[in-house]
Amino acid sequence: MRIRFFEKEDLPAILAIQKKAPQAAQWQAHDYSRLAVLPGGMILVADLETVTPRKVLGFAAFYRVIDEAEIQNLAVDPEHLRQGVARALLEQAKQRLRGAGTKRCFLEVRAGNKTALELYFSVGFGLYARRKNYYRNPPEDALVLCLELFPPAVGP
Ligand SMILES: CC(C)(COP(=O)(O)OP(=O)(O)OC[C@H]1O[C@@H](n2cnc3c(N)ncnc32)[C@H](O)[C@@H]1OP(=O)(O)O)[C@@H](O)C(=O)NCCC(=O)NCCS
Repeated sequence: MRIRFFEKEDLPAILAIQKKAPQAAQWQAHDYSRLAVLPGGMILVADLETVTPRKVLGFAAFYRVIDEAEIQNLAVDPEHLRQGVARALLEQAKQRLRGAGTKRCFLEVRAGNKTALELYFSVGFGLYARRKNYYRNPPEDALVLCLELFPPAVGP
């Protein structure tokens, strides 16, 4: 598996994965194309480079403003769950965000999305806030999670 930046040829595969993952944000193609070219935008794609044509396994979309970033979307192909795809995307993102001087990364997730919560906690995110009735269809609280990318030094 390889993690690389989004290319416009990935759009059909990303839209197909997103459709199979209703917990993901249901974006239009232009949402990805636009984010990918914004100065603070970053979309990472996991693929199998050994397969022709390239097989996209999952993606993660980020937006960074100065020293804070947000995960805006994330999904893995249901046929490739629990193979470390999301973890690899998030670990690569951490490195790249740190490299760009990002201090912390936030995200919002449905309080009932236990799978995503397990994933985020496993890579170091912690609970930051709860937004009551933030989501619609169905109504649900949002949990805001935060990952500190540069933990303050311990000691005097
Ligand atoms: C959440 C999601 C991205 C996880 O992708 P994934 O590639 O299967 O996750 P990984 O294999 O990298 O798992 C990493 C860790 O996350 C946790 N995790 C992932 N899936 C889990 C599950 N079904 N149950 C419990 N923990 C889980 C585990 O800690 C796991 O580590 P482990 O396998 O060593 O125990 C995927 O389930 C998905 O696309 N869900 C639908 C879209 C979505 O919810 N997006 C997030 C919106 S905020």
